[in-house]
Amino acid sequence: MEQIIIDGGQTRLQGEVTIEGAKNAVLPLLAATILAKDGQTTLRHVPILSDVFVMNDVVRGLGITVDFNQEQNEITVDATNFIDHTAPYEYVSRMRASIVVLGPILARCGEAVVSMPGGCSIGSRPIDLHLKGLEAMGAEITQFGGDITAKAAKLKGANIYLDFPSVGATQNLMMAATLAEGKTVIENAAREPEIVNLAVLLNKMGADVRGAGTETLTIIGVKRLHGAEHDVVQDRIEAGTFMVAAAMTSGDVLVKDAIWEHNRPLISKLLEMGVEVTEEAGGIRVRSTVQNLKPVSVKTLPHPGFPTDMQAQFTALMAVVKGESSMIETVFENRFQHLEEMRRMGLHTEILRDTALIHGGGNLQGAKVMSTDLRASAALILTGLVAQGQTTVTKLEHLDRGYYQFHEKLAGLGASIRREGGA
Ligand code: EPU
Repeated sequence: MEQIIIDGGQTRLQGEVTIEGAKNAVLPLLAATILAKDGQTTLRHVPILSDVFVMNDVVRGLGITVDFNQEQNEITVDATNFIDHTAPYEYVSRMRASIVVLGPILARCGEAVVSMPGGCSIGSRPIDLHLKGLEAMGAEITQFGGDITAKAAKLKGANIYLDFPSVGATQNLMMAATLAEGKTVIENAAREPEIVNLAVLLNKMGADVRGAGTETLTIIGVKRLHGAEHDVVQDRIEAGTFMVAAAMTSGDVLVKDAIWEHNRPLISKLLEMGVEVTEEAGGIRVRSTVQNLKPVSVKTLPHPGFPTDMQAQFTALMAVVKGESSMIETVFENRFQHLEEMRRMGLHTEILRDTALIHGGGNLQGAKVMSTDLRASAALILTGLVAQGQTTVTKLEHLDRGYYQFHEKLAGLGASIRREGGA
């Protein structure tokens, strides 16, 4: 069994760290490449992560050529030939985010069969908003044997109001609408930087998408799309994770090329706590003295609110700050499992439905702990940096979905950390 072992307690992270392209941007960008009938699409600054390999397989499963040059962090996709409209269970079941191929396959082929994603450890994660939006655009949706079949000889532009600004639903519908007949308006759309990154690629491919980054997206359908070249946006969550790591170890770290605007909700909470966060030409610098930090209250929300994907890591910071902090998780219904593991390290916390109270500043001790999801894995490793003695973190397949060389990067900043048990 693979594990990460941390000798914690004395760590003070210092130096510079480089950030990869965003996992949550590249997955929908790969889905968008399906739409290009003419020419190849090249994505640059692609992170080397297990989720990216899975998405490559999903796209390849449609008969599309996908070439991943890992040395160059570049993926080239050729979707010019006939493509199959079925995304089979064997691929889709490995990653629920692969549901974003539904819109592009339907728009390109007039029919799509995609295996229905199941629940996941952080919540039930329904896809009703994706399906209702496609129905509003004229698709006939049926569900049978674990598969969703969507049919529409030609999608029609529609006015869609999302009950919740779902990231995946916004992406699916935006992609479907690029080839629909007429105008689609998506209201209460998600506004994440990854949505903007996707809209920019779609427009380079010949689409007409306006308003990305605001709550109203307008898409005028076009007849066909072509390949393009595009850079994956910086991973704001990886950047945020290192910012929190620096803050909780009384560190001094430059997170290179991190984008201030994308991390604004996190930065505002770090500043409120008393962490020094400054924008430099090379990125964002984070400095702190843990003894001087103050507890805060945080509530996760869709962007530009505090990101749920930083919630677990931020609770690790709350754990070292003396006093009572509170975290309210409003996006997913079961995203506090890391706190149960952190209890094993001596954390005092009370959890009542969507609210966790963290009584920080007590003694944390190293322990054997298990990752329960991607961001939980990072949170546990960060807690291991400050806990006295040795911490062992298992179930690293969660970590590998979204962090490239996480332990090497922490070791580069001075952490005593190693990974064992690999092939
Ligand atoms: N929701 C519905 N119906 C839908 C779609 C969503 O009720 O049809 C609900 C979900 O159950 C959830 C909330 O809306 O409670 C948010 O879901 P959303 O659709 O916005 O999330 P997602 O697209 O499935 C992406 C990221 C997640 C991130 C969320 C929220 C990708 C590949 N995944 O998921 O990333 O937490 O947005 O920001 O982009 C991670 O990276 O660790 C991760 C889980």
